[in-house]
Amino acid sequence: MAEITENTATLQKYLSLDQRGRILAEYIWIDGSGSIRSKGRTLKKAITSVDDLPEWNFDGSSTMQAPGHDSDVYLRPVAYYPDPFRRGDNVIVLAECWNNDGTPNKFNHRHECEKLMNAHKSEKVWFGLEQEYTLFDQYDNVYGWPKGGFPAPQGPYYCGVGTGKVYARDVIEAHYRACLYAGIEISGINAEVMPSQWEFQVGPCTGIEMGDQLWVARYLLHRVAEEFGVKISFHPKPLKGDWNGAGCHTNVSTEKMRSAGGIKYIDEAIEKLAKRHKEHILLYGADNDLRLTGRHETASATSFSAGVANRGASIRIPRSVAKEGQGYFEDRRPASNIDPYLVTGIIAETIMGEIADADMSKEFQRESL
Ligand SMILES: *[C@@H]1O[C@H](CO)[C@@H](O)[C@H](O)[C@H]1NC(C)=O
Repeated sequence: MAEITENTATLQKYLSLDQRGRILAEYIWIDGSGSIRSKGRTLKKAITSVDDLPEWNFDGSSTMQAPGHDSDVYLRPVAYYPDPFRRGDNVIVLAECWNNDGTPNKFNHRHECEKLMNAHKSEKVWFGLEQEYTLFDQYDNVYGWPKGGFPAPQGPYYCGVGTGKVYARDVIEAHYRACLYAGIEISGINAEVMPSQWEFQVGPCTGIEMGDQLWVARYLLHRVAEEFGVKISFHPKPLKGDWNGAGCHTNVSTEKMRSAGGIKYIDEAIEKLAKRHKEHILLYGADNDLRLTGRHETASATSFSAGVANRGASIRIPRSVAKEGQGYFEDRRPASNIDPYLVTGIIAETIMGEIADADMSKEFQRESL
């Protein structure tokens, strides 16, 4: 670690140099494997609106997003956030990917999702996402686990405190602050059931903002972890055997559900969700069948169930919501590696109604075109 400390001190000298009014904008986007890519550019002055951000492009053949003979993919800025790494007026820019022919890139699921959210704006739908993830070291061992062996079985680690019960708190603390600095609606963190598995929660966020904020929070996590030499995995079942998988539980609430007597609308939504279970599961993350086994606090991927305070159901109505007769429900099916635009998009479509020019089920098929 001594070497890292010295380099950091040297780097600090340069990072504090005057930028002479120029702004650094780090454009981030989703690539063809569901990972995040980014590149930086200089802008002439501080920005005050997303319209100040120029469109840009990149080589899509290097990111599995375009063929070599027609490789330009365009980056259209949709939101920007204060950059916790560069600080000052520097920004992180979230961009949608568009093809040369004016169609959305096949991994750009935000576009369809936003159409649905706009069509149902009056419902004021809120989402909250609980992002679980697992830490690995540079050599792909679970971070902090004994070399060539396993830690003691699950039990002491969930919300664990103390050496041997919790790992990498420094990474998590740093990520928490970075999110707050960037204006992410991060609402909490906790250590998870498997050692070196953690969770952060983002929300409540309205409509399209949910997907935007989760992607930026993930970007910040990868960037922070990079500085600690730690890898982040969003795989839903990173380890076989008696270790918990990783999910992305999704809280959902429309204004009607949050109002007096709203439980009626929650029940209605659950009925609609039951009818489209298969379509939802298709969008709820790759390898999710390894996680949704009916064990380890999950429901089976092949059947739909709902219940009050039931952590083994597809949909859980929290006890407090059942008692008060209003609030929200939790969809426990989504895996940790979801694209939140697909998940919030199809939930919006199912519970608030289809619209003529968007079809979330087709979004998934687009990826394999
Ligand atoms: C979702 O709801 C649960 C309670 O059922 C709550 O503990 C959690 O903080 C909520 N998460 C988000 C991200 O809103």
